[in-house]
Amino acid sequence: MNKAKRATFGSKMGVVLASAGSAVGLGNIWRFPYETGNNGGAAFILIYVACVIAMGMPVMISEFLIGRRARANVAGAYHRLAAGTPWHWVGLMGVLACFLILSYYSVVAGWTLEYIVEAVTNRFAGQTSAEFITSFDAFISNPWRPIIWLLLFLLATHLIIVKGVEKGIERSAKIMMPGLFVIILLLVVCSVMLPGAEAGVEFLLKPDFSKVTSGVFLSAMGQAFFSLSLGMGCLMTYASYFNKRVNLTKTAFSVGTIDTLVAILAGFIIFPAAFSVGIQPDQGPKLIFITLPNVFQQAFVGAPILSYVFAVLFYVLLAVASLTSTISMHEVITAYLHEEFKLTRRKAARIITGGAMVLGILCSLSWGLTSGFTVFGMNTFDLFDYVTAKIMLPMGALCVSVFAGWHLDRHIVRDELTNEGTLKHSFYRLFIFALKYLVPILIVAVFVNELGLFSF
Ligand code: TRP
Repeated sequence: MNKAKRATFGSKMGVVLASAGSAVGLGNIWRFPYETGNNGGAAFILIYVACVIAMGMPVMISEFLIGRRARANVAGAYHRLAAGTPWHWVGLMGVLACFLILSYYSVVAGWTLEYIVEAVTNRFAGQTSAEFITSFDAFISNPWRPIIWLLLFLLATHLIIVKGVEKGIERSAKIMMPGLFVIILLLVVCSVMLPGAEAGVEFLLKPDFSKVTSGVFLSAMGQAFFSLSLGMGCLMTYASYFNKRVNLTKTAFSVGTIDTLVAILAGFIIFPAAFSVGIQPDQGPKLIFITLPNVFQQAFVGAPILSYVFAVLFYVLLAVASLTSTISMHEVITAYLHEEFKLTRRKAARIITGGAMVLGILCSLSWGLTSGFTVFGMNTFDLFDYVTAKIMLPMGALCVSVFAGWHLDRHIVRDELTNEGTLKHSFYRLFIFALKYLVPILIVAVFVNELGLFSF
């Protein structure tokens, strides 16, 4: 492949926005609140933030430097930087993880489309919180509605992917990121002003360490990698489109900060509202879908037009945020098939979209047709989520840090971090220490702890 012909992102801002677009999505607004709810609140958030800083940041910088250096898809990157070694298997695991996540993630992204329609047709008006729960349960167990939305969502992802890197990915991220941020801030204000919201704020701010079990560590670590799009070569693939002038460390800090901020703000929308209307925080994947309609209804009691506008805007932005994330997962696999098997981007994209549709349908049926099928008590959807977020992503992240810390030539690492010596890198030593020892030891410790071989 000719290096000069490879596409790049158009501007510095585009680089940050596209990476943040990948990172910010359902992971922040849907998955983070429900994991926080399941794992007891404030203590989980503290552990989560520690995971972002201690593991997320070093791994993100490594993915960036590997990707930009290799200028190839994730499997190709390991081929180039470690030819003739088994490292490319790590790339392949990334491609597989991407495919699995894309499939079940699109199911939830499809739900956001249903909620756009509900908001637009003003169906939230006048419903009680119990009714929101019943109608959500009826919706996800319906045999065809969620599937149609899932297919539509994957189709939208597909269309943007075939348009290519700069036009498709960068432009959509530039428009939606700032919009989403503004509306999230407004909703936080609305939510904390609801009657009885204090209990929710307390849940988010007062850590109760007696609730911290081994599972909490694994959940927080998995959530950190999931939310930052790490561990399967997603940001590595994006970095292969970065130009030589991008400051990798700075970009990683910006993306990490934006992502964490959005997640915590999402918590401040969901929990004050949930406590205010009496929804238990440990509802799992349905939490935001049964809580948010209440926020829109109750926050503007005297002004139904505001409820309407906020609801519509929020679900539209959430759908777009999910789209910039599904695009990034799809791109990992598209770039892989396109470059390694010499398929055209269009053909590669078709295969992936078709495959994700089939797996997505399987996941979507988890609450309906196949609800009786469970493994270790998890339905198909939960199983996909568990295997990817709690096993594959941490393993992928472990491999990335070992690769960058132990295998990669130190000159390459230094050159990429300092843009061939033109930037200062004050954290260099700390960064290498984190990659070589801190990240691998922490990940292994969390796994061992979860298996119950020893406990913290
Ligand atoms: N980070 C995205 C979110 O929070 C989801 C996502 C995109 C992702 N690309 C990924 C998760 C790669 C894991 C790996 O919604």
